Amino acid sequence: MRIGVLTAGGDAPGLNAAIKAIGEIALRDGHDVVGIANGWAGLAGDFDGTLLTADDLRGVIGHGGTLLGTARFNLDEPDGGRELVLKAIDEHLDALVAIGGDGTQRISNWLAERGAPVVGVPKTLDNDLPGTDFCIGFDTAINIVAESLDRLHTTAISHHRVIVVETMGRSTGWVASMGGLAGGADLILIPEFSVTMDEIISHINRRRAAGIKYSLVVVAEGVNLATLGGVELGEGSGEGVGGVRHATRGVGPFVAAQIEALGGFEVRTTVLGHLQRGGSPSARDRIFATRVGDAAYDAVVAGKFGMIPVVRDDNVVLVPISSIATGKRKVPREIYDLCTTLL
Ligand code: F6P
Repeated sequence: MRIGVLTAGGDAPGLNAAIKAIGEIALRDGHDVVGIANGWAGLAGDFDGTLLTADDLRGVIGHGGTLLGTARFNLDEPDGGRELVLKAIDEHLDALVAIGGDGTQRISNWLAERGAPVVGVPKTLDNDLPGTDFCIGFDTAINIVAESLDRLHTTAISHHRVIVVETMGRSTGWVASMGGLAGGADLILIPEFSVTMDEIISHINRRRAAGIKYSLVVVAEGVNLATLGGVELGEGSGEGVGGVRHATRGVGPFVAAQIEALGGFEVRTTVLGHLQRGGSPSARDRIFATRVGDAAYDAVVAGKFGMIPVVRDDNVVLVPISSIATGKRKVPREIYDLCTTLL
C-alpha cells in the first residue's frame, strides 16, 4: 500500500512520535510511506509527497515540530480545494493518515464520507477535541505553563507584584486551567466561566489583606473580554484550519492594565505564546502519540476508514471521525471549581 501521512493546523510537540510510529511499522510491513508536505496544502495543489525512509524517522521521537511541515490551509477557499484533495488521494495514495485537530478532522470526515480511505489522529494543543482524553501536544504545553509559573512565582514574590500570564487556548481553558493548577496559579480565567474585573481585584485584595503580597493570574487567550469590562478587540485575523488568531486580541496585557488601573497594584505581563508549542515533547506526549499512531496504522491495514484512534481512561479505542469532528470539549465545572477552591 502507499500510505500518506500529513500533519495539518498548528504544530505540536509529539507529532514526530506519531509519524515515526506509523512510518516505522508500515515500512516494517513492506508498505510505502508518503510524507505529505505542509498538511492539506501538499494535496490541494501540485502533489507534494515524498517517500519516507527508515533514516528519515530515526531519532525523531524527541524532536518538537513536525518533520513533514504543516500549514493552516483553508480548504473551503478557494472553491474546490477539497475536491482537489479527493482527486490527489485517489491518484497518489491507497490510504491517508491525517494528524490534526477539529478543523483537520472535519476535512478528514468530509473526505471519508465521500469514500476516501482516510484515518485520523487527534492533535491539538488546546486539548478540546470531543471524545478523547488525549490530544498530541497538550501534555507538553501544560508542563511548560507549570514550569513558567514556577519561575514567575519567585520573581513575583520578590517584587510583591501581580503577574498576568497569558496562555494558549482559543475556545477552551484546558491549557490555562491544568497548567495553572499544576503551577499553583492564584487565579485562572478561562473562556468557559466568566469572572468580572471586580471579582479579580477583590481576590487580589483578599490575598493582600492576608499578607500575601503577590499574585499569579493565568488567563487563556480566548477568554471573553466583554465580561472583563473590555470591548471584544475583534476576532483577529483568519487562519484557515484552526480558525481565528486569538493571541492578536491582547487579552493578557488588557487584564494586566485593568488590574493596575482599578486595583493600584504593580503588574507585569508574560505572554507564553509559541513557547508552549515549541521544543521537545513530554514522555506522555511521546508515548500516547506512538500508541495512537500505531492504532491508526492498524486501522489503515484493516480498511477501517473514517475512523480515528482516541484515548479513554488510558486505553486507545477506535471511533468514527464524525463523532469527534464537531463541537469542543469544555473544561468541566468541577475542574474550574478546583482552580478556585485552592486560591
Ligand atoms: O490551535 C492551537 C493553537 O495553539 C491555539 O491555542 C492558538 O490560538 C493557535 O494555535 C495559534 O496559532 P498560530 O501558530 O497559527 O499563531
